[in-house]
Amino acid sequence: MLSEAGKKEIKELLKRYPTKRSALLSALHVLQREHGYLPKEGMVDVAEILELAPVHVLEAATFYTLYNLQPIGKYLIQVCHTLSCGLMGANSLILYLQDKLGIKMGETTPDGMFSLKAVECLASCGTAPMMQINDDYYENLTNEKVDQILSDLRTRGKSPLASGPFKVPVNGDADAVKRGNLILFKNMMTPDYSGSLKDYEKQGGYQTIRKMFKEHTPQAVIDIVKKSGLRGRGGAGFPTGTKWDFIPKDQNLTKYLCCNADESEPGTFKDRQLIDRDPHQIIEGIIIACFAIGAHTAYIYIRGEFAFGAKVLEQALAEAYRAGYLGKNILGSGFDLEVYVHRGAGAYICGEETALLESIEGKRGLPRVKPPFPATHGLYGKPTVVNNIETLSNLPHILTRGADWFTAIGSPPKSTGTRLFCVSGHVKRPGNYEVPMGITFRELIYDYAGGVLNDRKLKAFIPGGASAAFFTEQHLDVKLDFDLVAQAGSMLGSGGVTIMDDTTCMVWAALSLMNFFHHESCGKCTPCREGSGWLFKILQRIENGEGQEEDLSLMPKLCGNIAGRTVCAFGDAEVAPVLSTLKYFREEYEKHIREKRCPFQKEGRLMSVGH
Ligand SMILES: Cc1cc2nc3c(=O)[nH]c(=O)nc-3n(C[C@H](O)[C@H](O)[C@H](O)COP(=O)(O)O)c2cc1C
Ligand code: SF4
Ligand code: FES
Repeated sequence: MLSEAGKKEIKELLKRYPTKRSALLSALHVLQREHGYLPKEGMVDVAEILELAPVHVLEAATFYTLYNLQPIGKYLIQVCHTLSCGLMGANSLILYLQDKLGIKMGETTPDGMFSLKAVECLASCGTAPMMQINDDYYENLTNEKVDQILSDLRTRGKSPLASGPFKVPVNGDADAVKRGNLILFKNMMTPDYSGSLKDYEKQGGYQTIRKMFKEHTPQAVIDIVKKSGLRGRGGAGFPTGTKWDFIPKDQNLTKYLCCNADESEPGTFKDRQLIDRDPHQIIEGIIIACFAIGAHTAYIYIRGEFAFGAKVLEQALAEAYRAGYLGKNILGSGFDLEVYVHRGAGAYICGEETALLESIEGKRGLPRVKPPFPATHGLYGKPTVVNNIETLSNLPHILTRGADWFTAIGSPPKSTGTRLFCVSGHVKRPGNYEVPMGITFRELIYDYAGGVLNDRKLKAFIPGGASAAFFTEQHLDVKLDFDLVAQAGSMLGSGGVTIMDDTTCMVWAALSLMNFFHHESCGKCTPCREGSGWLFKILQRIENGEGQEEDLSLMPKLCGNIAGRTVCAFGDAEVAPVLSTLKYFREEYEKHIREKRCPFQKEGRLMSVGH
């Protein structure tokens, strides 16, 4: 069932890992590429090569949403229907596609050309509405564009409208003054910068590690990063240097670095930009982090949907190996480092650090109970650091320009440097904005991103991805600072800022996110697995005009039985949209119940597809 070439490719992949099972996700990608789905006989072949029981292969195949267990159309159209896309017309796009193709979600056209599926956030929220067809993204869609794409695929097999490197506007693109502050986006804003090794070196790239190997000990690097105050940009905001210092110093222990490029938090699309447009900045950051913690192997865990980004990274790694920046005895320093790309296969939860480790080990992405923490018992039971792509991208700059330079930017002492904020939803200039920490949400939304679309009134915004509690107009003067946002009742999280105008139904917004959380719950713990479904159903009935007065007291009770009672922080995250919309928009919930209908009919009903 697997071709000889496929078998050979999988055997090559085995070299990347200490255990054969780790190659499972990649092996299934190879099998699916050959057949369009995972035939049973092919899964048995994979099991044989990896020396696994077939059930272990099936276990993974049924967990990750990118794997098709049945044959599907030649082109799989996946339309994002999570909040930012929903705000920008995903529902109409779905209806249009259904109409145009004559099929419903989950179906395939009779000629076997197209299958249609609604999916959760694909990290294109600033270019909504969007869809992915096979490996290609199509963004900023209109009905006319959809017509052209379908016709191109039918006649030519590909469409020029497919996105290349992610091109969401950076800092408004036209605003040169604000560009002056750029650090992480500086290279990619240089005219003709392609992200190649040559271009990166022209900007001074890889000079930092040359200096580091000559002048610093690993502990000195840790101390500089600690002094810089850099905190993780993946969501939790943990101090990076402190995390590194937890790693045992014993030289004889095997240690790992895992780079978190899973970027699946709704509203977040910054790591994709760093990967597509400046991969060597990330690789130099990886080398610095590995040198500091004494790791000689790093894995970049990239979400399965980022097929383009995975290729960019593979190419950049090959360039770095050829130039002697990776491999044995890097630049004559005596330091060895191997870096591999590991593709996920569609599971939001794999962004949680311990689920990510399980996934690299070739298992279902179920978070581990902590303690023990990855610093002592991580990948393959060895000391491991997991760091976000943006966190790592900061390292070459901190090492070159010093900790004091970094602490002078932003909102010291605890929110230093710049941060990438992804602004999407009802906003005039959606995009990625690199701003010094400490500016206010008002400045970010109105000065940088141009204000609310069509000059409407701001109703609510999410300050840090779907897991963060909603804010309202009263929070516009809160500063983009980890602690100040927490004090105001939410979190900076992943940096995804979603704007909602006064036409948005808050019950629908909470329902949209609960749809996401219910779909993405890994199912390991009962409160989250069951609770997310119950909350989804209650919100759905309120939105459908079938809610009851008691629902308003039932929901907080349910939330209280989820938050703080689960294996991972997903439990706390999923209650945030419900509790915060209930807090700030209770009268809107009451109106739905009293009038037995949604007062914002024009938003359309959320499609309960995907369950
Ligand atoms: C449900 C869940 C999803 C997460 N998703 C991501 C993600 O997509 N990307 C990421 O970098 N961190 C994500 N995190 C945070 C990681 O667990 C971890 O804290 C982070 O990768 C550490 O890197 P940092 O210290 O550089 O931020 C997620 C956490 C949870 C609980
Ligand atoms: S809280 Fe949810 S996502 Fe996290 S382990 Fe439990 S079931 Fe899985
Ligand atoms: S890409 Fe659709 S919400 Fe993020």
